[in-house]
Formats: sequence, C-alpha cells, structure tokens
Amino acid sequence: MGITENELERKMPIGVFDSGIGGMTVVREIMRQLPNERIIYFGDTARVPYGSKSKETVTRYSKQIVRFLRSQHVKAIVVACNTASACALEELERDTDIPFVDVVRPGAKVAAQTTQNGRVGVIATRATIGSDIYTTYIRRINPDIQVIGKACPLFVPLVEEGLWQDPVTDEIATRYLSELIDIDIDTLILGCTHYPLIRATVGRIMGEHVTLVNPAYETARKLKKVLEARSLSNPEPAALGTSQHQFFVSDGADQFIHFANSIIKYGILSAKVIQIEDY
Ligand code: DGL
Repeated sequence: MGITENELERKMPIGVFDSGIGGMTVVREIMRQLPNERIIYFGDTARVPYGSKSKETVTRYSKQIVRFLRSQHVKAIVVACNTASACALEELERDTDIPFVDVVRPGAKVAAQTTQNGRVGVIATRATIGSDIYTTYIRRINPDIQVIGKACPLFVPLVEEGLWQDPVTDEIATRYLSELIDIDIDTLILGCTHYPLIRATVGRIMGEHVTLVNPAYETARKLKKVLEARSLSNPEPAALGTSQHQFFVSDGADQFIHFANSIIKYGILSAKVIQIEDY
C-alpha cells in the first residue's frame, strides 16, 4: 500500500526561528513536549538583536527567514522570537497555507487566565514593549486587566555572557523589576526568549506570590494542539541513528553550537551558515 499524502505531511519538520540563540528555550520545550517532531531551526545570529530594531526591519528579516524555512518543506512555523512575533506576525500570517504559532498569544492567554488581582507585568525587549502587543492580546481576553510593560534591554547580553546567576544580573534585575514590585503585580510574563534562563533570579526578586509565565512552554503546548487539530502530528519517533534536527544560522556557527548545547540536552554537533539575504 502506498504512503498517503497525510502520512508524508506528518513526517515533515517544524520550522522554528529566532533572532539568534534565544529561541533554543522554545526548542527545548518543543523537544520535551513533542519528542517525535523534527525541527529545522534558524537563528539570525548575524543580525541579532531584533529588540532594538524597527518593525519594518524585523518584518523584512522575518519574511526572508520564512521563505528559507518554506524552502525546507516545513509543515508549520514557530516564531520563537517575541520581538518578531510582536512586529511581524500579522504580515507573516497573511496569505499562508501553513500554520504559524507565535510566542506572544499563548503567553498572553495564560497570563490573563492566571492573574487574580488583575495586574500583569511584562518584561521584554524595547521593540516588544513598544508594540504593546501583550497588552492588546490580554485586553482582548479581559479588558479589565491592567498590563504594565518594562523593557529590560540588558538582560539579553547578560544571558549571552553566561551570567545567569551572578551578582551583576541580580543588581540590574532588581533595578528593572522594582517598579513592577511597587505596582503589586501578581503575574509576570517572561516576554523574551532569553528570560527563562534567568527565571530563578527574576522569581527570587519578585517573590513567591508572583506567578511567572514562560511563553516558551505555552508555545509548545499550543503547537501540539495546532498539529493535532490539523492531523499533522508525527506519530513515530525518528529512526535511530538519523539526525532528527537541523540547525541553521546566519553567522558564528561555533558560538551558536556552544551556547545551544548549554540550553538543551540534545547534543548539537553542527550548524550550517546560510546567506539569509538571498531568500
Ligand atoms: N529573541 C529576542 C526576543 O525574544 C531577544 C533578542 C533580540 O533582541 O533579538 O525578543
């Protein structure tokens, strides 16, 4: 009996992209929650950070990446970058026949369901906070919730320097988070790919009464639901000995491999550099 079209579709990989390495926190959750799926990851390491760039630039970059991922025959695309989700998602979703899962909507939904006192904080890059995207989505669910955003631009370089648990990070986090503590939020969205890696520091400073929402975790859950709803989940694990996942970057493959392996257990051996401007 021949293989049906749907059987073939189910075996196609998931495209995941980010401005750089931070999206590996989303990959980590996808690997945990959807172990059968193959991932094709692209990290735009040559053009990171997106968080300080304009909506137009981030949208242009994101469109190139989507063209690249589509050339790899992916069955769905995960926009793992909060900034790209905030700036480009609407344009990306236009005229597309494959599902897109972003990191903002799943995080916003859980935060709206979690808050008891109606005050939600969001920490993210300048571009994400400037877009007000989390506020828009949370208010669509419940217009009475107050959303307080705080840009934390120093967190990304601190995380990339490996200072996940360090007095310098403590000091800067204390300054950034003080206004959210004063406003007495009870829920805080970690609205940037890198922030789950300093979750312990943020949690300690905010206190136990504040629930931290990790959009990476919520995104993997959403992806699972979307694949199931469209009958696109891969029912079988990858064959032994095959390399299940593939990693592409726009620069600095060695640095990417080193950092990515500090985030996930998979054991990445190689990453291919591509000319993303060609797409
Ligand atoms: N990946 C970005 C985000 O989640 C953080 C790094 C950057 O500024 O590009 O917003």
